Amino acid sequence: MTLSSRHIITMDDLTPDEIVHILDTAESFAEINERRIKKLPTLRGRTIVNLFLEPSTRTRTSFEIAAKRLSADGINFTASASATVKGESLRDTAATLAAMSCDLVVVRHKMAGSPYILTEAMDCSIVNGGDGMHQHPTQALLDLYTMRQRLGHLEGLTVGVVGDICHSRVAGSLVPALRMVGARPIVIAPPTLLPSRPDVLGAEVAYDLDEVLPELDVAYMLRIQMERAEGMPFPSLREYAKLYGMNSTRLAKMPAKSIVMHPGPMNRGVEISQDVADSDRSLVLEQVESGVAVRMAVMYLLLGGADSGAAA
Ligand code: CP
Repeated sequence: MTLSSRHIITMDDLTPDEIVHILDTAESFAEINERRIKKLPTLRGRTIVNLFLEPSTRTRTSFEIAAKRLSADGINFTASASATVKGESLRDTAATLAAMSCDLVVVRHKMAGSPYILTEAMDCSIVNGGDGMHQHPTQALLDLYTMRQRLGHLEGLTVGVVGDICHSRVAGSLVPALRMVGARPIVIAPPTLLPSRPDVLGAEVAYDLDEVLPELDVAYMLRIQMERAEGMPFPSLREYAKLYGMNSTRLAKMPAKSIVMHPGPMNRGVEISQDVADSDRSLVLEQVESGVAVRMAVMYLLLGGADSGAAA
């Protein structure tokens, strides 16, 4: 099975069946990541460009590792090392890369919608590695993968997405992704961190975290995006942590098998306490680990899957 869309820019580019197929394919790649020699010839001769024009640790590194493990030729661009610092436009950067015949570009950019500029300027697959406050679809896929690995299923899970909903591209992809696999997303935040029409998110909305804790299979904590907020959306970080931070007292109010997740980077002591972040109920590092296998699956399936001449 190949994917119906050539690009993954939002969750709308995937069907529910395709999401499950990506997760299943990632499972077979995860086994390779356990081996001493972690390499397959699957994408030999294919060129993958990581165009990261905004900072990243997890996404950039895991796409790089995923490309290497599949034997693709990976080229890494960061903002500081590219001609964008001299004022080159994204469209001209894309046209320049297109002239060098790449097969897939992963792009991270501060402007929402920027991956679409690449689809117009380039004749290759584009994967959104996070665009402004819009979407981050491979983060949602790795989050679904991590939940399924730990909890055994996705359908019927109640997932509280807590915190800075209105500035978060992670929430922008995770909420629709959860709905597509039959889970129940609840966004939990103060009104100042929700969009003005929270009903358009397609999730239930709650303002009191303590009230919904007993219902949650997953508490997905979001970072406060201070760099995107205009003014303080709450009186103080201390006040925010008191009302919306995950801590051991709140964790104790959740069901025994429930888990805590965070896309990283974490603000310890704000949206998640030190002890919860390092507890065995926190899957933060499992999420990072899943990122490599899921991104291997995404690259493999976008570049032809089994039709590319090699099996997962
Ligand atoms: N989760 C995430 O996108 O992290 P990075 O910004 O480090 O890539």
